[in-house]
Amino acid sequence: MTTTLILGRILAPRAGAYPREAADAFDYHERGAVAVADGRILAVGDADALGRDHPGADRRDHGGHLILPGFVDAHLHYPQTGMIASWGKRLIDWLNDYTFPEEARLADPVVARAAADTTLDLHLANGTTSSCSFCTIHAHSANAWFEAAAARGMAVWGGRTCMDRNAPDMLRDDPRSAHDESAALIARWHGTGRATYAITPRFSPTSSPAQLEALGALWKANPTCAMQTHLSEQTDEVEWVAELFPDSRDYLDTYERVGLIGPGALFGHSIHLTARERDRLAESGSGVVHCPTSNTFIGSGLFDMGLARRMPVALGSDTGGGSSFSMLRTMAAAYEIGQLRGHALHPSHLLWLATAGGGTALRAADRVGTLDPGSDADLVILDLASTPAIAQRSARADDLWEAVFPTIMMGDDRAVAAVYVGGEPVRHDPRV
Ligand code: GUN
Ligand code: ZN
Repeated sequence: MTTTLILGRILAPRAGAYPREAADAFDYHERGAVAVADGRILAVGDADALGRDHPGADRRDHGGHLILPGFVDAHLHYPQTGMIASWGKRLIDWLNDYTFPEEARLADPVVARAAADTTLDLHLANGTTSSCSFCTIHAHSANAWFEAAAARGMAVWGGRTCMDRNAPDMLRDDPRSAHDESAALIARWHGTGRATYAITPRFSPTSSPAQLEALGALWKANPTCAMQTHLSEQTDEVEWVAELFPDSRDYLDTYERVGLIGPGALFGHSIHLTARERDRLAESGSGVVHCPTSNTFIGSGLFDMGLARRMPVALGSDTGGGSSFSMLRTMAAAYEIGQLRGHALHPSHLLWLATAGGGTALRAADRVGTLDPGSDADLVILDLASTPAIAQRSARADDLWEAVFPTIMMGDDRAVAAVYVGGEPVRHDPRV
């Protein structure tokens, strides 16, 4: 067994709930090392000590670069990669005019696989090593996602998107086919390699009560799957849900009454929530995903990061509603939204959300978004001086966080010096 020491400045997230204090989010090793063997992390600590423990190890020295767990993007739509940055619409028109026609193109399995490959290559270029994606209604779109991830050794989540109303004919299923095709995909993919299946009703406007009930039953039968959907993204949408579900107490109740809340549930957006919805999300152990570049791009609203004190919160790019594949840009947008709400998020909290926060919401805190021994060695190596603008600012920093923050706010794929998946280097030069 060959051991490799990956050397640099290390930020290792602390497991558990959202850290109360910024100083509680990470352990820091100024001259640190991650010891890796067979694709897994053996140990993290000071370089000298680990060098003594592993005298014959190969060494990959990243000097002053920062070593973190690979980023986790907890909400995206890989089928929408080709139509990212489509102009001028709010949610429902954006779906009808841009999104559904694009998703219809994935009726061709070749188009689906190309979209999955492109998306995952963009993720790796941006230091994202795990992600959770909606697919399309076509079962082969889930196959394409999981096959593309397996080809890269990546741990991903995903699921066939179910819709049986308020969508074009060619993108509609029915409660039975949604259930049965999802069940077949669970049998094929859930727990295969590094794949986790996410049962995926798109959102209540495009699922009949019967379809939501069928998917609630499917989750009950497969409780280790994740469940992903959308919740209270725009006020028009919330009003539409109230019309479509006159008997429901609120938007969350359309999911709650069929068993689609609880640990492993990932509610994208979750902006316009009532007090009851917040309480039920917290009591049930559900997770929510903050998608800040999407929320500004589609004009949805300002997420309340106070939720992180009550429930798992992850960050999502939400591409193609989101406008960037970069989790650095996603963190920057989360910071900006925090400022608009009167709360400046600390860089350690932002990085925690993009790593351990994602792992925790996905119920995989021991596998992704962590450097804990035993986890797969998925790492991102950040250059904190990747552009002249960033370099001149970080050079003046008095402490670590002041040196990191310019890269969060202004960094892009040029800041990603290297990425490791399962202990193997993926890329060294982001410009190649
Ligand atoms: N709500 C339902 N579907 C979608 C989608 O594809 N993107 C976003 N941002 N919101 C949605
Ligand atoms: Zn979404």
